[in-house]
Amino acid sequence: MPILSPSRLHIHYLAPAHCSEPSSEHLMENGQDVIDGLTQSQKTLPPKYFYDDYGSQLFEKICELPEYYPTRTEAWILNEYADAIAHHTGPCDLIELGSGSSTKTRLLLDAYQRQGEALYYQPIDVSAGILAESAQQLLMDYSTLQVYGQVGTYEQALANLSEPHLDHRLVFFLGSSLGNFSPVECDRFFAQVADVLAPGDFFLLGIDLEKEATILEAAYNDSQGVTAAFNLNMLTHLNQRFGGNFDNQNFYHQAIYNKNAAQIEMHLHCKIAHSVDLENLDLTVPFAEGETIRTEISRKFNLNTMQQYLQEKGLATINSWTDPKQWFGIILCQHQ
Ligand code: AVJ
Repeated sequence: MPILSPSRLHIHYLAPAHCSEPSSEHLMENGQDVIDGLTQSQKTLPPKYFYDDYGSQLFEKICELPEYYPTRTEAWILNEYADAIAHHTGPCDLIELGSGSSTKTRLLLDAYQRQGEALYYQPIDVSAGILAESAQQLLMDYSTLQVYGQVGTYEQALANLSEPHLDHRLVFFLGSSLGNFSPVECDRFFAQVADVLAPGDFFLLGIDLEKEATILEAAYNDSQGVTAAFNLNMLTHLNQRFGGNFDNQNFYHQAIYNKNAAQIEMHLHCKIAHSVDLENLDLTVPFAEGETIRTEISRKFNLNTMQQYLQEKGLATINSWTDPKQWFGIILCQHQ
């Protein structure tokens, strides 16, 4: 293994103590969001709890499934248009929300490198394991790259961005993770993005587009059962994190497309009446047979509507791109 210059890698672990106000990272630590979600009549859990280190690995497997088209479709678009993006923005600090394995990031790094720009990359992810591992890999493959990683939630990392090194910032949010946000959460998220960006800075957004229900449902009910394992792993993660005694055997995976709301809804369906204790949260949760926990919504969008929405938030579209089937879209916008 080549010895890495330590000065090219900085990883900052955003701990609750760093928060002046309770933020969602704080909530993630103390589990208030779990208590809130599991005491509603329709039980819910926040999708960020999918991504412990094992869950992040399962997600990487999902991205390679034949049915799960979003990753490869978005990668196709990026591969096609990364040079156009780099050309539009010029030198930029690259800030990625939910960086995961940083696989698609390479397409952008390559484009900026071809253009002769210095490479400053700030990955942000809730999973420390996958962030550190991907950063090491990137440093080996890009000899001039500097990485400033942040382990934490989007909100907290955005509030703690380091000073930009280059002319502008490019914040990018790929994979349609935006789909996990309700309309209200979208509003709040875009307001925060617009707030951290200076006039002239850039925002790059990948969104999954509306399409036939059969294609969507297959993507979230894969034949190998990887998505089912990913969904159920949230319970294992909660057991470890909050001293819980969820038995995965008592639940099964469900994903249905709600056409009216244009969203996939993922649930864990409870097979038998029982109750679950989460010791660290002082919480006992009764479950009825047939009851579900909604673990994720994955909204599907319209490219034009999204551009209008971004415009209202002060993020003006420079260009947008899609694939030949128009299954996925990428929007580059600039803060005014
Ligand atoms: C990472 C939120 C974009 O909604 O498609 C994949 C997560 N869940 N399969 C998505 C996911 C089930 C994914 N996002």
